[in-house]
Amino acid sequence: MTDKTAKLDLESGTSEYPVLPGSVGPDVIDIRKLYGTTGKFTYDPGFTSTASCQSAITYIDGGEGVLLHRGYPIDQLAEKARFLEVAYLLLHGDLPNQSELDEFVNSITYHTMVHEQLAQFFRGFRRDAHPMSVMCGVVGALSAFYHDSTDITDPRQRLIASHRLIAKMPTIAAMAYKYSVGQPFVYPRNDLSYTGNFLHMTFSVPAENYEVNPVIENAMRRIFILHADHEQNASTSTVRLAGSSGANPFACIAAGIACLWGPAHGGANEAALNMLREIGDSKNVKKYVDRAKDKNDPFRLMGFGHRVYKNYDPRAKVMQTTAEEVLKELNISDPVLDVARELEHIALNDDYFIEKKLYPNVDFYSGIILNAIGFPTEMFTALFALARTTGWVAQWNEMISDPEQKIGRPRQLYVGATHRDFVPVSER
Ligand code: CMC
Repeated sequence: MTDKTAKLDLESGTSEYPVLPGSVGPDVIDIRKLYGTTGKFTYDPGFTSTASCQSAITYIDGGEGVLLHRGYPIDQLAEKARFLEVAYLLLHGDLPNQSELDEFVNSITYHTMVHEQLAQFFRGFRRDAHPMSVMCGVVGALSAFYHDSTDITDPRQRLIASHRLIAKMPTIAAMAYKYSVGQPFVYPRNDLSYTGNFLHMTFSVPAENYEVNPVIENAMRRIFILHADHEQNASTSTVRLAGSSGANPFACIAAGIACLWGPAHGGANEAALNMLREIGDSKNVKKYVDRAKDKNDPFRLMGFGHRVYKNYDPRAKVMQTTAEEVLKELNISDPVLDVARELEHIALNDDYFIEKKLYPNVDFYSGIILNAIGFPTEMFTALFALARTTGWVAQWNEMISDPEQKIGRPRQLYVGATHRDFVPVSER
């Protein structure tokens, strides 16, 4: 708390509001009493200037291109941490010591299997259903299978639900993939790492031995870490808003998955690769850059720009290095990587992109890596959802434990018809 205040001058008088400091980053003006004192609301569609909550999980400085989880820079975590260490960090606030980590890993691996009846639940989907539609449905249905961890007032149940979600998402995502290609579901193997097990459930088939390639396993570990959390983005805010009503955690995460699906959010990795393929050749890049700049053309460079980053997205840098490593390991020379490099080069030197501070984001290179590993494009956003689940449950737990949190209930600037009387249809 500081004594700083912000004054608001209106015709009806002046009112003062406390200014709250964060540990780092911009202060916020606490306007909770604004309506009570002035009878007015603030107007901020898209929440461009609104802090919807207080949080100690993730910090982003978009101008400087900084991303910290609980204070740790994303590039250090992506380089050195296990995915489950990062999950523990997000959930509990500090890196685990060895015994805490062992216990956490144990608990997660204990929960990797899904109820056998859930396999039947999958059969209700069309075979060609998009994995994200399957994920929305199946994750929402978890509350019907694990009803014993839906009492959100019980911290123990909240923890079990969180562990279940982190543990079962790889299994569910792999099942969604297997279902779409008509292969049998593969059970988890708890002797493998979180990412190794996911690759095993996705790519192994009963008829053949499947060895997890350590370079690919490492690439997946990085991709999962880079997607684990990103402060109050659209899907996380959706999870918080759904959770603010007291809804059960499985329903809240299903809501987050639905929001993530959109092409402006998690769907951008799929859209970015489709765009790179459509461009097809480095010589076509300029034409597409010109289209992106044309006000009369709705085309945007997918994987470019960010609401918060007005500098290079630090996740994109790690992603670019990982793309090079994976393609080298798999001995793939994918022309889309050349297209991506050329596009990045042209866009970063173009006045339009410089002026608007549009840089590659996390999704620009991730599709190239996932494609090289063998994932179909429809799976990309499902993988994002899998990784982001750790962030969602951490943010959801933080919100439920915050005594100041109320049900999320925004107001509006009403611009519709004022009072009018009903007219029967025969007289209209
Ligand atoms: N290509 C061309 N122009 C762009 C782009 C782009 N990718 N992104 C923004 N602009 C322009 C936009 O036309 C606008 O111009 P003007 O001021 O002349 O109207 C200006 O830049 C600001 O754009 P905005 O849409 O008002 O910015 P926003 O903060 O609302 O949107 C965004 C952020 C990520 C939705 C947007 O940059 C975008 O649509 N990017 C492409 C989709 C994408 O890659 N999304 C993944 C985001 S990272 C992963 C995640 O967090 O989910």
